[in-house]
Amino acid sequence: MTTLPTYTQTGQTVTFNFATNLQLTVLTASIIHLFSDRGEPGTSYAVEGDKQQPTAFTVTNQGDHYDLTTAALTVHLDATGHVDVDDAAGHPLITDYRGKRQLLDKGVDKVHQRLVEAEGHSINGATVQGDQGYQVIKALAADEHLYGLGDKPGYLDKRGYEYDNWNSDNPDAHLETFTKLYKSIPVLLGLKNGHPYGLFFDNPYRSHFDLGKESPHYYFYSVVAGNLDYYILGGASLKAVVTNYTYLTGRTPLPQKWTLGYQQSRWGYSASQKEVQAIADDLEQNDLPCDAIHFDVDYMRGYRVFTWDTDKYPAGPGEFIAQLKQRGIRVIPIIDPGVKQDPDYAVYATGLKNDYFVKSPNGQVYINQVWPGNAAFPDFGRPAVRDWWAHNVKFLTDLGVAGVWNDMNEPASFQGPIPNDVVFSDQDRPATHKKMHNVYGHNMAQATYAGLKAQQHRRPFVITRAAYAGTQKYATVWTGDNQSIWPHVQLLIPQLCTLGLSGFSFVGTDIGGFGADTTPELLTRWIEAGLFSPLFRNHAAMGTRHQEPWVFGEPTLSIYRKYLKLRYRFVPYLYDLFAQETQTGLPIMRPLVLNDDQDPRNREINDEYMVGDTVLVAPVVQQGQTKRLVYLPRGEWVDFWNNREYAGQQDIVVDAPLDKLPLFVRKNTLLPWGPAVSHIGDQPDTAMTFRLFGDHGTYDHYQDNGTDFKYQTGEWNGYRVAVSHNQVTVTLTHHGYAAVYQTIHVALADRVVTLTYQASTQTYGPQAL
Ligand code: GLC
Repeated sequence: MTTLPTYTQTGQTVTFNFATNLQLTVLTASIIHLFSDRGEPGTSYAVEGDKQQPTAFTVTNQGDHYDLTTAALTVHLDATGHVDVDDAAGHPLITDYRGKRQLLDKGVDKVHQRLVEAEGHSINGATVQGDQGYQVIKALAADEHLYGLGDKPGYLDKRGYEYDNWNSDNPDAHLETFTKLYKSIPVLLGLKNGHPYGLFFDNPYRSHFDLGKESPHYYFYSVVAGNLDYYILGGASLKAVVTNYTYLTGRTPLPQKWTLGYQQSRWGYSASQKEVQAIADDLEQNDLPCDAIHFDVDYMRGYRVFTWDTDKYPAGPGEFIAQLKQRGIRVIPIIDPGVKQDPDYAVYATGLKNDYFVKSPNGQVYINQVWPGNAAFPDFGRPAVRDWWAHNVKFLTDLGVAGVWNDMNEPASFQGPIPNDVVFSDQDRPATHKKMHNVYGHNMAQATYAGLKAQQHRRPFVITRAAYAGTQKYATVWTGDNQSIWPHVQLLIPQLCTLGLSGFSFVGTDIGGFGADTTPELLTRWIEAGLFSPLFRNHAAMGTRHQEPWVFGEPTLSIYRKYLKLRYRFVPYLYDLFAQETQTGLPIMRPLVLNDDQDPRNREINDEYMVGDTVLVAPVVQQGQTKRLVYLPRGEWVDFWNNREYAGQQDIVVDAPLDKLPLFVRKNTLLPWGPAVSHIGDQPDTAMTFRLFGDHGTYDHYQDNGTDFKYQTGEWNGYRVAVSHNQVTVTLTHHGYAAVYQTIHVALADRVVTLTYQASTQTYGPQAL
C-alpha cells in the first residue's frame, strides 16, 4: 500500500509532499485552491488581489487518505494524489476518475481521415494535452448536469459535448458543433445528483473540455502547458456557486444607467457624418428610443486606430458628437488592436520607438494583416503597453465619445494564425503567443477601461469581443458575429444565460443578426427575445440587407417600437439588478435552473429565461409559430399582459402572435416602472413608479446618479416599497444621494397611489388603502 505523503501547513496553505508538490489553499469555507507547480512563472489574470479570508479548517489523517475540512467542503486526498470533494453533508461533488480514458472510436483510420478532411470536414475529439500538458479527469454520475464555460454556442447543459479554449474568430454560423468562440472562460458548474459545485481552471494556455462525450463515466480537462491550477467551488445552491466564483474572479461593476438603453449599429454607418445623421433622424422621426450609435471601423483614416477621417465629417468629429449628444444619442467608436504599419502614423511610430509591439522570435516586429492591411500588435500583457493604450484612448474621450468597443482582440489575423512562438509579454516577463493568446483581449479591455476611467471619471463603458475569465470586471461583452438565422435567435437564450453563469452579467447578441439577411419576422422575434439582454444593440455586417426597424415598414416598425418602449420601462429594474449583482455576482438574465436548481424541470430549459428572480420570459424563437408551451417554475405567476394568474410547476400553452412576447411576473411582486423616455439623460428622475403584480409585495430599489463613482462613497438612496392589504409604505432605507424622488407612485390593480416626500422628516407618508 502506498503511504500517505507528509504535509506542511503555512497559514491556510497545506503542502502535501508528493514527488510534485500539491498545495491546497483554503480561501474561504467554499473556495479551495488546488495548485501544483510545474515550473510556469507568472500570476493569474483572472484572480486579482488576495482572496483569502481567515477560515477555520482541519486536516486529519484517515489512514488511507487525508481529509481537509472546512464548514462547507471536505477534500479527500489519497496516497496516489486522487482528489475527491464532498459538501458538508457528505454528498460527493467532485471525484477523481479512477479508470483510464477510453478514446472515442470514430472508426476512422488515417487514410480515411485524410479523405474526410479533403472535403473540408473536420474530425473533433483530439485531446490538446501536448507534451508539456496534463489532464484532470473527474467521474460523472448518471444524474449530473454540467453548465458554464462562458461563451460556447449550444445548449445550456453542456454534458455530452466537447469544447476548446482558444479565442477564435470564425465567421461561419455558430452552432453546437463549434468547440470554440471568441472567449475562454474555463469555469465549469455542476449539479451532481442535485448538489451544486464549480471548478475553475485558471490556466490561459489552450485547453480542452470533454464533458462526457468520450464516455458517460467521466469528464476531463486537458491543457497544453502551465501549472496545475484550479479552484474548487462549493455553495448551497448554484446561485451560491456563482457568488463564490465571482467573489474570486470579480464582478461586473455598476454600469452607467444609459448603457441599458437601446443602441443602434451597422458596419458602414460611420463612413460619413451624413450617414450617421440620417440614422439619428430616422430614429427620431420613427419615435424609436435610442441611447447610442456605434461607429464601426469606417470612421477612421484608413483603419488607423485613434484617428478620424475628418474629411467625411464636415462639422468635425467633436462637434458632431456633441450635436448627437444634444439629441440624446451617444457615440461608441470601435477600436481594434492591430496598428497599421505606417512610419508616418504616430501610433505606429510611437509603438515602434518604445518597443510596444509583439515580435517574431528573430526580434523583428511581428506583422500580420487586419483591416488596415499590414499591422503590428500591441503587447498588452505588459503594464507599460496598457498604460500607453489607456493614454491613446484620450484621443477619443477628447472628442466626447461615451465608451469604446474593442474588437478583433482574440487577436484575429487575416494572414493565417499568429504562430505560437511569437514573443509576447506576461507582465514584464518574456512569454509567447501560446501563453498569452487567451488573455490578449482581457488585457486590451483592461487598458481601455483604465483609459476611460482616468479621462472621463465616469463608469467606463467598454465592450469587448475576446475575453478570459475575469474580464467581466472591465468590459461588457457581445457574442460576436452571429447571423440572421433562426438558430441564432434560439441560441441567444442559452448562450447569454451561460455567460451569466460564468460571471459575465453585462452581455448581449447582435439583435437581428450580424451576417446574412434578416427577415421582418426574425427581426421582430429577436427584439422580443433579447428584450432583457443587458447590452441591447442591433448590429449588422456591411453588405447585408439593412435591418433598422423602419426598413420593413409595418407591422415590424410598430412592434419594434412597442418593445423598445417597454425596455425603457424596465430599465430601473435592470439597474436594480446590476446594483445587486455587484454584491452577489448573480446575472441579470438567468437560466431557470439558477433560480431554483432543485426543480429537475429547470435543468435543461433552453427556450425560456428569467430576469432576476421575478420575471419569466418565454420568447417565440421559431419561424411561423404563434403559440408556445411555457413551463412555469415553482411559485405563482401573473401574465404580464392580462394579469391572468397561474400556479407554477406546470406547462401552459400561450398565444403568441407576432407582436407578443410571452412574459410572466411572479405573483406578489412589485417592480419599478421607468418613465416613458426616448433617451436616458444624466438628470435625476424626480418621480418613480412601482407596479404591483398580485395583491401585496415588497421591493428594494436602488438609486444613484447613474454615471460616476460617487455611489462608492455612499451617494446612493435605497427605498423599500411595501404594499400590504391595508397600506402602502415607502421607507428611505439609505439616504446618501441628494436627489431623492419627490413623488412615488404605486400602481395597484385598480388605482394608482401617490406618496410625497416630506423633506423635514425624510419620509413618505404611509397611505392607507
Ligand atoms: C468584426 C466584428 C463586427 C464588426 C466588424 C467590422 O466582424 O465582430 O462586429 O462589425 O468586425 O469592424
